[in-house]
Amino acid sequence: MIASSVPGLRREIAGVSVAELAERYGTPLYVYDAEMIRRRCRDLAAWDTVRFAQKACSNLAVLDVVRREGVLVDAVSTGEIHRALAAGYTPHAAHTPGADGLPPAHPIVYTADIFDRASLDAVVKHGIHVNCGSADMIEQLAERMPGASITLRVNPGFGHGHSQKTNTGGEGSKHGIWHEEIPDVLRRAEWAGLQVSGLHMHIGSGTDLAHLAEVAEALERVAIEVGRSLTMVSAGGGLPVPYKPGEVHADLSGYFTLWDATRKRLEDRFGHRIRLEIEPGRYLTAESGFVITEVRAVKKQGTRKYLLVDAGFNTLARPVLYGSYHPMSICPQGDDAAQGLEEVAVGGPLCESGDIFTQTDGGFVATRPLPAAGAGDLLVIEIAGAYGFVMASNYNSKPLPAEVLVDDGKHRLVRARQTPEDLVRGECV
Ligand code: LLP
Repeated sequence: MIASSVPGLRREIAGVSVAELAERYGTPLYVYDAEMIRRRCRDLAAWDTVRFAQKACSNLAVLDVVRREGVLVDAVSTGEIHRALAAGYTPHAAHTPGADGLPPAHPIVYTADIFDRASLDAVVKHGIHVNCGSADMIEQLAERMPGASITLRVNPGFGHGHSQKTNTGGEGSKHGIWHEEIPDVLRRAEWAGLQVSGLHMHIGSGTDLAHLAEVAEALERVAIEVGRSLTMVSAGGGLPVPYKPGEVHADLSGYFTLWDATRKRLEDRFGHRIRLEIEPGRYLTAESGFVITEVRAVKKQGTRKYLLVDAGFNTLARPVLYGSYHPMSICPQGDDAAQGLEEVAVGGPLCESGDIFTQTDGGFVATRPLPAAGAGDLLVIEIAGAYGFVMASNYNSKPLPAEVLVDDGKHRLVRARQTPEDLVRGECV
């Protein structure tokens, strides 16, 4: 068997044969490595609370893996509240503070910039804690849940992401309560009879530690304005993941130390313990996820060679949306693998020119060095476990792919592939 270390070749995912997975479940197929998710959860053990931003990968089996690691969960919609409950999270914290004197953490937090009517109903019905990203949410909640405690998501006036589309701070972002509005918002909360118990800042996704480090300082300034009612601060998500060759994992211990020092200064000022949360999405699941596709055609357009696979931007949207880079490898059908690499563009089946996995921001088609492959060989798209399946669509009436979890050398279906009947469910002529 050829080791995965041969450039561009991959025959296994977490000890399970790629060919066997494709044969058993069909392609395109999402596969998650449970142990990798656990490892990433444990990397963050220093934080009092790790809260999974499930928007990154919300399959119930994945939520179950993180829940068993003691990781709590964020929800941005009624659907995500429903998923959290279905995965075994309870809405309410145990009311006894831990031995460490920290206030209890809310197992599920609803963080959004609006309540749509259904999400407000769900929050009220289950008594879910709310992290408000707009001041109007305060009165809307107070009317339905008098006396509730809330946290505020604050836009610190700056942000950063891997793309402008994932930058969630500054005037160019709709997210969070503007930092200069805090005194006014605190008055609104007081009038409405709600207690502000925590602060949260999330400046963007796929950012870097240099930008993230600025958040601690900004949050501390706002925390002092809020005062002694604060018992929780959240650093938000945004932790980077190495996608490209040569990129490395960021130094998370230095990042924790910075936030821990911020929290300790606030504890000294307020005279009580403050819970320190982090809210990663990408970091926990990106590296665990793979998309297995089958090469269905190889063609030359002038001088450029294209591999066309059976997954498209309906399966994984990040390249067409952001020009995102995902590593790729070939799993050849037989034991013989091609020697050497060739530059190829990789595209999918959709009737749209943008259906290319090897594109740069702006939609320019690029190429990738891969071992020569032909129809019937498999192509694996890697680091696809965050914002992969969750952003898949039914464009071109393509069914959503199946999802499989690999754990301890065993694999199991955790979401069935959609059928043609699923595609027209609810429609009528
Ligand atoms: N907290 C909040 C309030 C968020 O909105 C997000 C992500 C996170 C935490 C988690 O951020 P992370 O740790 O994953 O960076 N579709 C884009 C990413 C969108 C992120 C949306 N919010 C992508 O594929 O890169």
